[in-house]
Amino acid sequence: MALGIFDSGVGGLTVWQALQPTATQHIIYFGDTIHVPYGDKTPDELFGYFQRIMAFFVQRQVSAVVMACNTMSAVVMPRIKEPPVPLINIIDAAVTQALTVTKGRIGVLATRATTESRAYPRAFHGVDPSVEVVVQACPKLVPFIEAGYRTGSIIEQAVKEYVVPLLEAEVDTIILGCTHYPFVLPEIRRIVGPHMPILDPAQQIRVVVEDFLQGKGECQPGECKSEFWVSGDPWKFRHLARAFTGLDIPAVQRYRPSGEGM
Ligand code: DGL
Repeated sequence: MALGIFDSGVGGLTVWQALQPTATQHIIYFGDTIHVPYGDKTPDELFGYFQRIMAFFVQRQVSAVVMACNTMSAVVMPRIKEPPVPLINIIDAAVTQALTVTKGRIGVLATRATTESRAYPRAFHGVDPSVEVVVQACPKLVPFIEAGYRTGSIIEQAVKEYVVPLLEAEVDTIILGCTHYPFVLPEIRRIVGPHMPILDPAQQIRVVVEDFLQGKGECQPGECKSEFWVSGDPWKFRHLARAFTGLDIPAVQRYRPSGEGM
């Protein structure tokens, strides 16, 4: 059995990379690149994409699916009553991680859909009602990152526009509440300065996946294989994935979930 991971595009690769050293199952990665960015989609659209992606993973008989996408975790998770396979939710992981670090004022950088869902404040307040949570929508970042930008004035300006309000709100910790954002972490760090914790929930997801697998698996850590599937252009995904991770991503295959009218 393999572990499924999905995102709208290359963002989930930040989670995939975090899992590499300890994963004991092969990984099937799905990037729904024909629908990226998820951040500007409606809850109903996202729910439809989710159902088709899950059908793909059920067909592939995965042991669990890592939602390497905050937007799906935020918007769709509350609607799921009985998932067909266990789901690992990145927002729960982010909350667990942040509560060990914050002094009480947390800033979250996220997509517009995640921001509007209020999923982060709800998840924090479910555990600790006393923390303040300031969520900042960053609608330009995913389109820029998917277009291949990680540095330069275009990224610098967008990051500044989104990070400065969190600094003005005097947060003490920042969560990268979208799996694409670790790719622009150096720009975020430059504006935030050297001291404030900037958390990438992928690190906590690794712990959750380790607990889930409990050493059981079909391959040794470091030797597990990955398959990559996308709904859009496989060449573009592979090119970006290689450029962003520096790793030799194997051939990417195309899967178009049925009922898309494509
Ligand atoms: N990387 C995803 C997330 O964590 C989706 C971003 C998008 O497609 O807008 O939210």
